Amino acid sequence: MAATWEELVKQIKERLDIVDVVSQTVALKKRGNNYWGLCPFHKDKNPSFTVTPSMGIYKCFSCGEAGDAISFIMKTKNQEFREVIEDYAERFGLELPPHSHSKAHESKEVKQQLLKVTEIAAMFYNDLLLRQKADNAETALKYLTKRGIGTDIIKKFHLGIAPKSFTTLYDELRKDFSNVILEQAGLILKSEKGGYIDRFRNRVIIPIQNENGQFVAFGARALESDQNPKYLNSSDSVIYNKSKILYGLNYAKDAIKEEDGAILMEGYFDVISSQAHGIENCVASCGTSLTTDHVKLLSRYTKSRRIYLSFDTDSAGQKATARGAQIIKEVFQGLGDIKQFDESYIPTSSDKYSCEIRVICPPEGKDPDEFVRSVGADAYKEYVKNAPLFIDFQINSILKTKDEYKTPQEKAKFISKIVPVLSEIKNNIIRSEYTDMVAQTLGIESSVLQTELKNFERANIFQVERIIKNVTKNDTILQKAQKNLLSVFLVPDSRLTFAQISEMIGDVQFDDEILNIVKSTIDKSIYTVNNVKELIAFLYTEFVENPQAQSVLPELVQMAEAYQGLEEQDFANVISETIAKIKKCRHDKEVEQIRKVYKRIDDDDPEALKIQIQLRDKIRNKIKKSEMN
Ligand code: UTP
Ligand code: MN
Repeated sequence: MAATWEELVKQIKERLDIVDVVSQTVALKKRGNNYWGLCPFHKDKNPSFTVTPSMGIYKCFSCGEAGDAISFIMKTKNQEFREVIEDYAERFGLELPPHSHSKAHESKEVKQQLLKVTEIAAMFYNDLLLRQKADNAETALKYLTKRGIGTDIIKKFHLGIAPKSFTTLYDELRKDFSNVILEQAGLILKSEKGGYIDRFRNRVIIPIQNENGQFVAFGARALESDQNPKYLNSSDSVIYNKSKILYGLNYAKDAIKEEDGAILMEGYFDVISSQAHGIENCVASCGTSLTTDHVKLLSRYTKSRRIYLSFDTDSAGQKATARGAQIIKEVFQGLGDIKQFDESYIPTSSDKYSCEIRVICPPEGKDPDEFVRSVGADAYKEYVKNAPLFIDFQINSILKTKDEYKTPQEKAKFISKIVPVLSEIKNNIIRSEYTDMVAQTLGIESSVLQTELKNFERANIFQVERIIKNVTKNDTILQKAQKNLLSVFLVPDSRLTFAQISEMIGDVQFDDEILNIVKSTIDKSIYTVNNVKELIAFLYTEFVENPQAQSVLPELVQMAEAYQGLEEQDFANVISETIAKIKKCRHDKEVEQIRKVYKRIDDDDPEALKIQIQLRDKIRNKIKKSEMN
């Protein structure tokens, strides 16, 4: 029996053969010291996937996926690290160490129990409402009826009622579930007196289901107007991450596919009302603002990535619209242009744009829930059909306020608001059309606006260039040098021992936190591992829960290849040169920073001269020092 978990992991790693493991999924062919095959992680036409048995790793030169035997199993079988270890312990007939008994198994079981208890609680609350078994069920039904919600919708969305009493749910569930599970599911809270009480009381319960329809959490709306907060939401748990779940997606996903578009709303009841009225392709985030994960989740269902924002028409809603559009752009930037104009006359293929953001903004000033109930679903659908692109919406909303800007100073301020929006339009013809239109609306010469636009862009380009120059360029040289320095540990036939390398590197500091972690992990292991292969295996295991650190490893391995076959002296030279380079980069960066301060000093300031002289000395010293290195 392995005495410890670490020992078991080590034993399994010794027994796992990377070629065997990969061969179960990929047909491999031997060429030289490596094996080649079609990459299982992307659509590979020519073999770009290699396995290097001498180092126990695989890497795809096309998509960049890389790792060791265990990470290959984790990725291809979608298993957790612990699950893999336990599976293979069984296969190899190795016993689990005492105490660590089946944690993966346990966590799987906990997950199952949480899903089960959440579903049971949802059904329980739903039953209390439908059969009016709670003291406040009648009030709740009346409230829902007033909101246009009848039995059918209650059943479809499994709405429920949490009674006023403190332990109704707890008394029901404690027979079958432990306090720990009930607490983890966010259903009960420790009371001040020491026992447990229900978390949701006197609230309409809105169960939250994930995209597969599993019950994972709750939103709960206050029944009385003096209850705070208005909505009480489940906290995140093992089965619920609110930044990755969209309310209503389990019902909406087919409609989103079919209509090739998704409507993002703000509230639970916006989605419930809309879906109940036949607008099925809508979802909402659950008590949190939109995240990039939400957008990624949605994009899986709409091919043309058409996303409608249908938020409240008040100023908070408008801010949410702008923020939402920003998040969507962030996700799709780099994949192509964001759709910025409607080409009614030009036929386009649906995959021409990276995404299409539209805004649904009925002038009646209501949220979608109120709108579909008071004005109607058909009217709402008209607004969907005619929803402007985000850029048009933005320009229109700014133009609408133009009468508030009357004096020349105010007009200048107005122009500074609209210019950044116009500058986002990529197509030149469209942009000049828009510029003319805006100028006309404002009653100014179009050429004036064009000049403003050019000035803005010039300033912007300079800014971007400056940022790139100051941050990226310097940083990448510095970062590359730092990675080079770490990679010397991973050279397979190196003439120096780990301890010798470590001593040469000494206490060189790394600017990047991830690289620091890699370095300190290497330091930790150099007296226990016997060779590079073991070191790589050790690092992969250590970083199993740190994908950022893990992703640096293949790069380091590749860099290390360049140092293969070097004689001891040459190898030592490489190390000291790299250290010198790092020091020089860092000095340059510091000098650059001082220069910036120097430039910023106002010449008219009486203290300026003194400070400038001090700074100049500082720069000189720095340069001298870096030349000495
Ligand atoms: P709103 O305050 O706009 O409410 O919150 P609403 O949806 O129109 O609610 P009704 O119509 O008065 O019932 C929108 C969303 O923000 C979250 C909820 O997800 C809600 O659906 N929210 C709001 C909270 O999480 N907590 C709150 O206290 C309020
Ligand atoms: Mn509302």
